Amino acid sequence: MLHHEAVREQRLTDTTQHVKKQKTVVSRFESAQTPDDAKLPAQPDHEKNIFEVDKIHAARLAINKRVWYIGKWRGYDKIQDGLPTPFLFSGHFPFARYYSTSSKMVKFEPSVTLPNGEKMPLLGLGTWQSKPNEVKDAVEYALDLGYRHIDTAFVYGNEEEIGEALKKKIDEGVVKREDVFVTTKLWSTYHQPAKVLEAVNLSLKKLQLKYIDLYLIHNPAGFKFVDEKTLFPKDKDDKTMYDQVDHALIWKELEKAVDQGLVKAIGLSNFNHKQIQHVLDNSRIKPANLQVECHAYFMQKPLYEFCKKNNITFTAYGPLGSPTRWGINPKDPILLEEPQLKEIAKRHNKTPAQVLNRFLIERGRATIPKSVHRERIKENFDILDLKFTPEDLQQLDSLDKNLRYFLFDFIQDSVAYPFADPY
Ligand SMILES: NC(=O)c1ccc[n+]([C@@H]2O[C@H](COP(=O)([O-])OP(=O)(O)OC[C@H]3O[C@@H](n4cnc5c(N)ncnc54)[C@H](OP(=O)(O)O)[C@@H]3O)[C@@H](O)[C@H]2O)c1
Repeated sequence: MLHHEAVREQRLTDTTQHVKKQKTVVSRFESAQTPDDAKLPAQPDHEKNIFEVDKIHAARLAINKRVWYIGKWRGYDKIQDGLPTPFLFSGHFPFARYYSTSSKMVKFEPSVTLPNGEKMPLLGLGTWQSKPNEVKDAVEYALDLGYRHIDTAFVYGNEEEIGEALKKKIDEGVVKREDVFVTTKLWSTYHQPAKVLEAVNLSLKKLQLKYIDLYLIHNPAGFKFVDEKTLFPKDKDDKTMYDQVDHALIWKELEKAVDQGLVKAIGLSNFNHKQIQHVLDNSRIKPANLQVECHAYFMQKPLYEFCKKNNITFTAYGPLGSPTRWGINPKDPILLEEPQLKEIAKRHNKTPAQVLNRFLIERGRATIPKSVHRERIKENFDILDLKFTPEDLQQLDSLDKNLRYFLFDFIQDSVAYPFADPY
């Protein structure tokens, strides 16, 4: 054997051994779906997990009679510490398909474009009930993993810790500010026009950001402002102190926030279609997004169609059925325990939560599952390779029971209570 051949052979052997050591990676290679190389396009197509190859680290190995290389994707330099980034080489170099192998690699790509041209990833990390002492690790871990969309709100009381996590990961070079989509929300005590920009600036300060990607009116009901800490003001008879402001007036202030570059896009949360229409009729900048409860038991079809018609993107909160929400009615079925869901999950070797998240994306909704546990944050992210059959989709569609879990009892007697209307 010639010297250079021997060197090459040795290098291949070394690399093969190196890769074999990474048992989890290799075993997941082995369980990867059969790739249909012939159909790979000659262009990157992130929706289909086709990325551009930057470098091949001279590695080549055969597993399951397929040839694999270890390499690096263009544009993902900072995420390749830890495991090398493996990919399957197709006949269309320099493009290749990503298989869910290294958790440190991919940025979640399925996204929707907002009217302002910005992209919102269809999977984000929810943070309601994520306590300040646990949310920082959750956000840092999520960003390491590839989450690029974080959902918070002034009222969640965790913007500061989320800001710290974002700053840390930006300083470390894991993400650039422009790669992360951050949503936060205007709380009900800041509906008076003179208070709106103050609230925007408070959130910006806590999040340590120069701009917010998406800023939503959290709730159509307005509360009286008492002080920054009083989020649910009550009078001496324990009655909620409402202070209803015409949404069109709040919206004008939000348009100013866009004009000043403080927020990139503005939207609504928990509004019904009539309330949305009122904003549509009285706005210069149209709502970019609606965030409402939505999951397999409550797909919100009429509201979704209404939004689609009006070019409003749609985000599903409580995508897993929000098992720790307030005021659970014990008679309600538990979404994560739905037998049909479990059956579909089993068929695909996935979990019910993964099926729920992927289904929402499949149906055009962004999903923002909340977790403060690393294994679940990872589980909720690991859904790129899940592909439903038409039968699965039919079965999932049939689960819709128009079941609203979040009744918003705390604003039931507000003139702006949104859920008395069918949608
Ligand atoms: N705009 C609004 O009014 C509004 C209202 C509600 C929610 N939201 C947003 O939407 C996000 C999601 O909604 P949500 O938090 O109510 O409910 P959710 O995401 O449906 O469910 C979160 C709950 O499920 C658990 N969980 C997470 N991943 C899991 C998995 N893979 N398997 C089993 N359990 C899992 C979490 O527990 P652990 O954390 O213990 O893992 C947590 O208790 C919120 O965090 C918030 O950002 C907005």
